[in-house]
Amino acid sequence: MRTPLVAGNWKMHLRVREALDLVGALRQALDGLAGVEVVVCPPFTALADVGRALAGSTIGLGAQNVHWAPQGPFTGEIAAPMLREVGCTHVIVGHSERRHGLGETDAMVQRKVAAALAHGLVPILCVGETLAEREAGRTEDVLAAQLGAGVADVGAADAARLVVAYEPVWAIGIGRPATGAEANRVAGLLRTWLGERFGAAAATVRVLYGGSVTPETVGEFAAQPQVDGALVGGASLQAEAFASIVRAVLGARVAP
Ligand code: PGA
Repeated sequence: MRTPLVAGNWKMHLRVREALDLVGALRQALDGLAGVEVVVCPPFTALADVGRALAGSTIGLGAQNVHWAPQGPFTGEIAAPMLREVGCTHVIVGHSERRHGLGETDAMVQRKVAAALAHGLVPILCVGETLAEREAGRTEDVLAAQLGAGVADVGAADAARLVVAYEPVWAIGIGRPATGAEANRVAGLLRTWLGERFGAAAATVRVLYGGSVTPETVGEFAAQPQVDGALVGGASLQAEAFASIVRAVLGARVAP
């Protein structure tokens, strides 16, 4: 019922030339693949070139951040219409590296999600607890607060376009992911909360898992009924690794 989505978060990696090499290899490996949606999220400096290189491709283009205003005196920020202009269809919002490393608040995330939707971008809203929050038994409270704020300004008509990524902070970038069972439990919880907020539209929201997803670990998540794909960091920088993650997600969904 839900088409799985695999998004590559390139973070602050790859110069333009390297980005183009990667996207060329990804097109060869993944173009035309049906039954799974694929999105790459290069750094801002590579968006326009990668966007051109993706012309005619089934691979979508996403940004890693967006400001809530459509334009204005916000030095260093990028507006949603600017992202649309270079071909973006998606944008990551509220990644933990921005929340915890750069002071992004729930209130900012709330405005960013609304702005993305208002300008026709699909927001990939990231939520996730830190290790300290998990150990203090606060996982559900933290996730409920992040999700609640993130979707606070989303109207019922836009709800189905949302993508939510569960990314436990303690599992990001260290090669040790959450278990499939825990990702499935949390994804189900997020969907239940979305259902309380949006009703039936919540059933079509994709909930991804992110945090140390690699070709070796993806199988565990791809097999979970509540998990609709992955947000991939490190492994998305290598064409073959990312392509095999995409194929694993597709294979698990196609299998009975
Ligand atoms: P990782 O990053 O796959 O390198 O753990 C995931 C993310 O931060 O989105």
